Amino acid sequence: MCGIVGYTGPRQALPQILEGLRRLEYRGYDSSGVAVLDGAGELHTAKKAGELANLEKYIDSGVVALEGTTGMGHTRWATHGGPTDRNAHPHTDATGRTAVIHNGIIENFPVLRAELERAGVELASDTDTEVVAHLLGAAFATGPTAGDLPASMAATCRRLEGAFTLVATHADVPDMLVAARRNSPLVIGVGEGEMFVASDVAAFITHTREAVELGQDQLVVITPDSYEVTSFLAGSSATTDFRPFHVDWDLAAAEKGGHQFFMDKEIQEQPAAVEDTLRGHFDGTRIVLDEQRLGDDELRTIDKVFVVACGTAFHSGLVAKYAIEHWTRLPVEVELASEFRYRDPVLDRDTLVVAISQSGETADTLEAVRHARRQRARVLAVCNTNGSQIPRESDAVLYTHAGPEVGVASTKCFLAQVTANYLVGLALAQARGTKYPDEVAREFTTLLEMPAAIADTLTRMDPVRELGREIAQSKAVLFLGRHVGFPVALEGALKLKELAYMHAEGFAAGELKHGPIALIEEGLPVVVVTPSPRSMPLLHSKLLSNIREIQARGARTIVIGEEGDDTIAPFADVLIELPRVPSLLQPLVATVPLQVLAAEIARTRGYNIDKPRNLAKSVTVE
Ligand code: G6P
Repeated sequence: MCGIVGYTGPRQALPQILEGLRRLEYRGYDSSGVAVLDGAGELHTAKKAGELANLEKYIDSGVVALEGTTGMGHTRWATHGGPTDRNAHPHTDATGRTAVIHNGIIENFPVLRAELERAGVELASDTDTEVVAHLLGAAFATGPTAGDLPASMAATCRRLEGAFTLVATHADVPDMLVAARRNSPLVIGVGEGEMFVASDVAAFITHTREAVELGQDQLVVITPDSYEVTSFLAGSSATTDFRPFHVDWDLAAAEKGGHQFFMDKEIQEQPAAVEDTLRGHFDGTRIVLDEQRLGDDELRTIDKVFVVACGTAFHSGLVAKYAIEHWTRLPVEVELASEFRYRDPVLDRDTLVVAISQSGETADTLEAVRHARRQRARVLAVCNTNGSQIPRESDAVLYTHAGPEVGVASTKCFLAQVTANYLVGLALAQARGTKYPDEVAREFTTLLEMPAAIADTLTRMDPVRELGREIAQSKAVLFLGRHVGFPVALEGALKLKELAYMHAEGFAAGELKHGPIALIEEGLPVVVVTPSPRSMPLLHSKLLSNIREIQARGARTIVIGEEGDDTIAPFADVLIELPRVPSLLQPLVATVPLQVLAAEIARTRGYNIDKPRNLAKSVTVE
C-alpha cells in the first residue's frame, strides 16, 4: 500500500502535501516523510516513524526549513524494513540531491542492492526503495541519460521488477516531478497552473476534480502548467493510452475510492491483496518466505504443525489444515489462540506453530506465540503488519501484503491469509521433499491464477446484493459446507454476526443430521457452499443430499456452486455461481459472496459496516 502525493505550482508545496497525506493515511501509517525543493536549488527532507502527527510535530518544531513550491510526501505501510525513521520515505542518493518515494514492492531489490554495494554505495536503510534513489542518482549523473531526469527515471524503471509507483525529484531540476507506475495506482490532478500526482484522488480533490489515470508502465513529467505521459519501456515513446476523468465524488467518498464504506472497497481490493501476497515468493525454482530464521534443515525435522489464531484469522487457519496436510503429510491442529496456551498442548522442538494475525498485536495470539517459544517450538508468523510484535517474536515471517484494512471485520486480509497459508504449505512440502520442485512450481502457478478468478467472482455479485436486501429482515441464517467449504461457512456466519447483528451459525454439512437440522423451519435462509462436482464428486453428492434434506423441511436454499454444475440447480432456490478453480483453493472465491451478502444485509438494516458495535480491529487484551 503506502500513500504518495506530489505537488508543483505557484503555492507553497508543504501544506498541499500534508493535506494530501492526511487523506491518504488510510493507506498506511507506519511512518511519513516529505521532500521539498527550495528556490535556491537545494532539496530538504523530513521524515518520522509513526503516524503523520509525529511528522507534523517535527516540522512545526522548525528544525528543518521546507519552503518551496515543488515537493512530495509519503505515508508508509512497511514491507521491506521495519517502521523506523531511517526506513521512512523519501529516500535519497548519496549526494542527497535526488529523492524518491515509492508504493509497491521491488522484487529484484536484493540483486540491485548487492550490485550497488559491490560498487561501494553505502545504503542507509533496509528498504527496497532506496536502491531506486541510488540508481536514479547515478543515471542522472553520468552516461547517456545524464542531466535528463525523465530519461534517467525511465532507464531506472526498466531495471525494476515487481510493483511500483515512484515519484522522484532532483535538486538540479526545479519545478518538475517525474512519476512512474507499474502494477500500483497513480493519478495526476490537473489544476489551474498547478499539478498533483497521488496514489488516489482523495489527496487533491479539494483543489481539482480533473484527474488522469495512468496506464501500465507509464511515466509522467509534471510541471506547474503541463503533464506529459510517455512509456518508460524501451524507447520512452509518447503515448495517449491514459484516461482523463472528472471526479464527481465528494471528499468522504473519495477516500473510500467512491465506495460507501471502506469494507466495500476492501472487498474489491481482494484480487490485488492476493496478488501482492504471492509477489516475490517464488524465485523461479523455490518458494521463499520473507524473513526465514529457520533453515530447511529445521523445517525437515518438523513432525507436527499447530495453527493458532483468533476470529477470521482462525478460519484462515482451518483452511490451512486441509492444504498443509494434503501437501506435506504432516498432522495439523488448528486451535483458537485463547484456548491453546491454557490447555498444555504437546509441543517440542519439532513442532511448528503457525501464528496468523492481521494486526500482529492480538493479545491471545501473542501469548500463544510466547508459550510455544517457551516450549522450544518453532514459530512462523503470518502477519499483515510489518514490524509488529508477533513477527518480531517469531522465528520466521510471511507477510500478507493486503495493505491496511480499515473495516473492523476482516475481508481482504482473510483472503491474503488463506493465500499465505498455501505458501506455508508449499514451503514445508518443498523443504520436506513431499512435493517435487516441479509440483511446487505448478501449485504456485495455479495460485497466480487466483486473483483473476476472484476478480471474476466480484463481477457476479449483483444477485448476491439483491438477495441480501431481500433476506435482510430474517431472524437467522445458517451456513453449511464440507471440507474447505466448512471454514468458509464459519467465516460467512461470522461476517453476518459481526456486521448485521443477526443470528448466524456455520456447520459442517455432515453434522446436520446430528442436531442442527432441528433448527430448519419454513423459509429459513440456508447458505450452502458446494464443492466442485468434477474434482470432489463424492463430497459433492453428499452435499447434494444435505441440500435436499433441508429443502424438504422448508429451508430456502442459497447454493454457492461451481459454474456449469447442473446437478445443483434444481435444489437451489437461489444459485450463486463461482468460477472453476481447484477444490483446495475454492475458499479464495467462495468467501467473496458471503462477505458481500453480510455487508448488504447490514447496509439494508442501516448499520455502519466499517464499525460494528462492540468490536475492535485489534484486540490487545486477553
Ligand atoms: C478482532 C477483529 C477480527 C480479527 C481478530 C483477529 O476480533 O475484529 O476481524 O479477525 O481480531 O485479529 P488479528 O489482527 O490477530 O488477525
